[in-house]
Amino acid sequence: MTHDTLTLTLPDEEATTRLAERFAPLLTGQAPGMGPGGRIHLHGDLGAGKTHFVRALLRACGVAGRIKSPSYALLESYKVSSLYFYHLDFYRFSDSREWVDAGFRDILQDNAVVLIEWPEKAGNLLPPPDLDLHLDYCGDGRLATLDAHSAKGTLWITTLAPSQQK
Ligand SMILES: Nc1ncnc2c1ncn2[C@@H]1O[C@H](COP(=O)(O)OP(=O)(O)OP(=O)(O)O)[C@@H](O)[C@H]1O
Ligand SMILES: [Mg+2]
Repeated sequence: MTHDTLTLTLPDEEATTRLAERFAPLLTGQAPGMGPGGRIHLHGDLGAGKTHFVRALLRACGVAGRIKSPSYALLESYKVSSLYFYHLDFYRFSDSREWVDAGFRDILQDNAVVLIEWPEKAGNLLPPPDLDLHLDYCGDGRLATLDAHSAKGTLWITTLAPSQQK
């Protein structure tokens, strides 16, 4: 059975880290039947844990050294083996021409891992991702809602789902 959507309770930041660690092999192509790369849009209020998730994910994918939040630069990029990772944050993004001028669209053409915080600030400039990840405040923890928009996203969710349901 395939799954297009999944809701998970993340009681503390370690739970967010563990979810990111489970995503890593799906994005690097180490999981069976999945090529590397993919695009995730991260939604949630300020401090919901978007950057925390991306940091843990990049770390688990083998990124060494400092992982900065792209809040000011808009984009931080990394490379592990032959795979490119692009971490974007559109919170301060205001002018759609910025997007075109910066050539960010080229990033989406690549067979890369693209992780975007505040994608809604880019209006309709972004194509739908493989997966939307929503992080919502829930008591002291967070509620994660995953929604797939492609066959790849559905495969990710289906892979993540069963062990979470135990
Ligand atoms: N499941 C969780 N439960 C409780 N706290 C969490 C959880 N996951 C992450 N956190 C904490 O929430 C904070 C999230 O900060 P982070 O910078 O990742 O937020 P953000 O969503 O990227 O915000 P911004 O919109 O400002 O970029 C961190 O202090 C982190 O430790
Ligand atoms: Mg952030």
